[in-house]
Amino acid sequence: MKTDQISNAVQLDPSGKLIHLLGLEGLSKEHLNHILDVAENLIDSDGKLKKSKALDNMSIANLFFEPSTRTRNTFEIAAKRTSANVINVDLENSATKKNESIIDTMQTLKAMQIDMFVIRHKQNGLPHLVAESIDDVSILNAGDGVNAHPTQALLDMLSIRQHNKNFEEISVAIVGDIVHSRVAHSGIQALKTLGTTDIRLIAPPPLQYNDVDSSSISCYEDIELGLKDCDVVMMLRLQKERMIEADIPNESEYFDSFGLNPERLSLAKPDAIVMHPGPINRGVEIDSVVADGPQSVILQQVTNGIAVRMASMEILAGKS
Ligand code: NCD
Repeated sequence: MKTDQISNAVQLDPSGKLIHLLGLEGLSKEHLNHILDVAENLIDSDGKLKKSKALDNMSIANLFFEPSTRTRNTFEIAAKRTSANVINVDLENSATKKNESIIDTMQTLKAMQIDMFVIRHKQNGLPHLVAESIDDVSILNAGDGVNAHPTQALLDMLSIRQHNKNFEEISVAIVGDIVHSRVAHSGIQALKTLGTTDIRLIAPPPLQYNDVDSSSISCYEDIELGLKDCDVVMMLRLQKERMIEADIPNESEYFDSFGLNPERLSLAKPDAIVMHPGPINRGVEIDSVVADGPQSVILQQVTNGIAVRMASMEILAGKS
């Protein structure tokens, strides 16, 4: 699953309290359910997000070294809704462009009394390295290379839970560029921890998971076989930026073989939900009719991202 050595940064203190959110490995079902419960309580019965004062007087810095729309903005909105001060560090114009190391940049920001850092970086394990190197701050991993994307997996779990799905009984199909997907890697981890025993990975061989380590996981090359009677379909984008030239599929052939269209979706259970972390590429991995259709929860996932990020920040701050 991981291509680089990931440091062993500790994300729980000796009493089991979460001090960083780097990945979902090592977190118990109780930890995950606690984050989901706090997130759920931050959403009104009419679906509106609440505000909280939990992070009053705290400062959070967003450091996004890779492009992002949903994740960066929902982290910013989440920080504001918990009453924190938030800065989006302008990395294009920062001292990292003058060859300052990331650790030195972060020590400088820490001297500005930043309490929490949200980091996205193309290098696997970079947030873990930072967590080991800088004391007395909390690190939230917003996506490191192909390794992990814990808050995305948690918002995905919240979306599944909201549709009254029992994790121990569901069949989940994950379709597409699995090998390059930190979303899939953290999602599989979350599902396993929550007790899902039928996780189906559907992909062409070059994009398939290369480290199947569990009897809960099965691999398919045939999407029609893999989707049969499943409860949840998670679609993934082709992450061309992480592929070597030879592995980049022809988009229309890919859509013909792996795209989710209404006919294929009809093989899943009638109440199956369709998820996608975004950004979606219509006509490449998903047909517009499905993306905008009644089974799609793609935009609900975005809203849930705010609740899960608020909950994660509150828990790291010791306020929930
Ligand atoms: C994903 C990511 O960046 O890993 N998107 C996201 O965080 N919403 C998936 C992707 O880029 O395809």
